[in-house]
Amino acid sequence: MNELLNNILFLPEQASTFAERVDSLHIFVVTVTMLSSFAVGTAALYFFFRYRRRTAEQMTEYVVPSVKTEFLFVSLPLIFFLTWFVIGFRDFVFVTTPPKDAMDVYVMGKQWMWKFSYPEGPNGVNVLHVPANRPVRLLITSRDVIHSFFVPAFRIKMDAVPGRYTQTWFEATKPGTYQILCTEYCGLSHSKMLGEVVVLSPEEWDAWLKEQRRGDLANRQDALADLSLAPPPARMAEQGQKVAAEVGCFKCHTVNGEPHIGPTFLGMYGRQETLQDGNDIIADEAYITQSMMDPGAHLVSGYPNAMPTFQGKLTGPQTAAIVEYIKTLRTPDIRTTGASQG
Ligand code: CUA
Repeated sequence: MNELLNNILFLPEQASTFAERVDSLHIFVVTVTMLSSFAVGTAALYFFFRYRRRTAEQMTEYVVPSVKTEFLFVSLPLIFFLTWFVIGFRDFVFVTTPPKDAMDVYVMGKQWMWKFSYPEGPNGVNVLHVPANRPVRLLITSRDVIHSFFVPAFRIKMDAVPGRYTQTWFEATKPGTYQILCTEYCGLSHSKMLGEVVVLSPEEWDAWLKEQRRGDLANRQDALADLSLAPPPARMAEQGQKVAAEVGCFKCHTVNGEPHIGPTFLGMYGRQETLQDGNDIIADEAYITQSMMDPGAHLVSGYPNAMPTFQGKLTGPQTAAIVEYIKTLRTPDIRTTGASQG
């Protein structure tokens, strides 16, 4: 019966304990308003014809209602709307009061993704894992603009507001995957700010949690090892060296100070170069980057115009990594460091 009604009304699948309550209220509201407007419309039509003016002199009778009728006209709608309020308020209280034993999950919206963190464990981006048949409380905030967290199958929707936490909760009733949408216009990729809730059976949930904790620990150990071995810039330089080898920089540039087809990378960073147009230039990050993108623009005197452009062949991060790599090849007599001046 419920499923049939859902199909008729184009409602999404019901997958939480709210769904049925929300839908019942929805169906109640739709049915009552439709019946009322039908009754009012029909009555109006009937009155138009039954009491229309038939001759030019005809006047409408002056009607004085009895106190009893007037009382009826006021109290009946009042009772009706109060009943409606009570039905809705009961559901409102249910939906806004998370059970005490609910599991907490932090939700952060940012342009344009959803991030989930579990207080005692793993993090996730765009995918929220939860156990079935267990209440979950969501503490929602935003890092930039207002977003809105919406899971149609659960019938929950809550704004994500920067600088404060809002909360909502749900209890998923059946394992499966359900869509998360952002329902507050939040910029260019608002329509792509999607995610999903993966509802797991209790056994799957335990297994998933265990696996995440193991992975999380391993990640943390990796991160620590990374930190003690090499700070981030050195890693970027390593990457730059790899990229430079891949795209063939070393065919023309040496790293031992010997000039080849192009100037050597050794000591290039911060070096003063005389250009073919007679101007001097300091080879800083901007110059080195430009030399990769538009090599003909500032040719160093004494070298041929032989370098191809790497525009479109290197990504931004790759270009930066190569610059970082060249920076590691600076020679001690460089003037730009300022270390000698204290
Ligand atoms: Cu986030 Cu729309």
